Amino acid sequence: MADQYKLFINGEWTDSEEKVEVLNKYTQDTYAEVAKAGEKEVDQAIEAAQTAFKTNPMPPYKRYQILKRVSELLQENKEELAKNITMEAGKPLKQARTEIDRATQTFELSAEEAKRIHGEGVPVEAAPGSENRMAFTIKVPVGVVGAISPFNFPINLVAHKIAPAIASGNAVVLKPASATPISALKLAELFEEAGLPKGFLNVVVGSGSTVGKQMMEDSRINLYTFTGSANVGLKLKQNTGLNKLILELGNNSPVIIDKEADVQMAAKNTAQKSFAFAGQVCISVQRLYVHEEVREEFQQAFIEAIQELNVGDPNDAETDVGPMISEEEAERAETWIKDAEKEGAKIIHGGKRNGALLEPTVLTNVTKNQKVVCEEIFAPVVSIIPFSNLKDCIDELNESQYGLQGGIFTQNIDTAFYAAKNVQVGGLMINDSSQYRVDLMPYGGVKGSGWGKEGPKYTIEDMTEERLVVMNLNQDV
Ligand code: SIN
Repeated sequence: MADQYKLFINGEWTDSEEKVEVLNKYTQDTYAEVAKAGEKEVDQAIEAAQTAFKTNPMPPYKRYQILKRVSELLQENKEELAKNITMEAGKPLKQARTEIDRATQTFELSAEEAKRIHGEGVPVEAAPGSENRMAFTIKVPVGVVGAISPFNFPINLVAHKIAPAIASGNAVVLKPASATPISALKLAELFEEAGLPKGFLNVVVGSGSTVGKQMMEDSRINLYTFTGSANVGLKLKQNTGLNKLILELGNNSPVIIDKEADVQMAAKNTAQKSFAFAGQVCISVQRLYVHEEVREEFQQAFIEAIQELNVGDPNDAETDVGPMISEEEAERAETWIKDAEKEGAKIIHGGKRNGALLEPTVLTNVTKNQKVVCEEIFAPVVSIIPFSNLKDCIDELNESQYGLQGGIFTQNIDTAFYAAKNVQVGGLMINDSSQYRVDLMPYGGVKGSGWGKEGPKYTIEDMTEERLVVMNLNQDV
């Protein structure tokens, strides 16, 4: 019988009649069954969060202790948690292990930040008529945070939502992706062990159209933090009134290989960063703009580097590229490839699919309006696009609706700084690909990639309100 999991509501493990089936993404067998939240459970979760927030405020030192303990527990349980990610997400084991290390950092950083949340003095006496007043600001938590997380980093993108929320003194209702909910439930177990008071973290599992919708329409939630598709992000924006929102909505990441690049280094780097977790990372390289003068050399080295990647069983510690999250998603990507092919695109590597496993695929002769270029493919598929003039290239790549992260390989400092000033993204990597992220940095996009930043220090800015306090001093003392 498959492992059984319950919901985590108000510090209790809660069962329900209906179940969500979680598949082993490599074999497609049932891996686990998880209680499915209905209207009642979502309501209880929000109520529990609101009550915890209102009645049991946690001092910063306690938030620090709990988050620090969770970071230690992540390391103590690293192997089991990594194996679970591999099963429920199909993420290659070595990448799953890296994810646990990164989540450990995210919790450690959030724990440290919990001790540094403070306001500042405001010199109101500098305004005529405001003599004998003293003023300062304090930072207060927003209240209840509604977190909706994606399948691609089932622990670390959950960590980026709940760790800063708890660090700031908020209570959380989390809806993890229904394809990968077990990591979030295991994280709730760690919080329980670390002594988090009841109600501060509630995990409800179910679909976006039921659980997500109910969360979106509940006025007890004060801030939403969401990672996922631009369509759902837009719905959240349209339906959550004046509530605060942090949205991380994907990308079709551009990387430029300039004529003055270290071409061999760029080829190795981009081959790794295009196909990690089967391209299902919001900052995976998708559009490779390569200068005509180095195109042949780059293309050859790029294909050679791809041939060194191990494709297959994610449980094998040597595997670099495993299955996609579902066969339907792999079919969708395959259709996009075929549509481009019909319009003249050429496959110069890969292109074949076996169930959810799509080979690392490289296209040339693409045009800018094809889905493989202008939409987020979220699959192991990269297009090589030649250019001869850097300014025109940057103008063209900026036509994208997205702008999360990008990259440029060049040894020319003027070119690097021109790109830094002109590529419209939340983060530009120089001599690295778009897929660079460490958890302390500000991470978030512009345009259709959303707004607000992840990275505990930055998220805490959004998850707290600045309150001004002004004291009218009595002089008769
Ligand atoms: C994402 O897919 O947005 C997260 C990327 C990362 O954390 O490396």
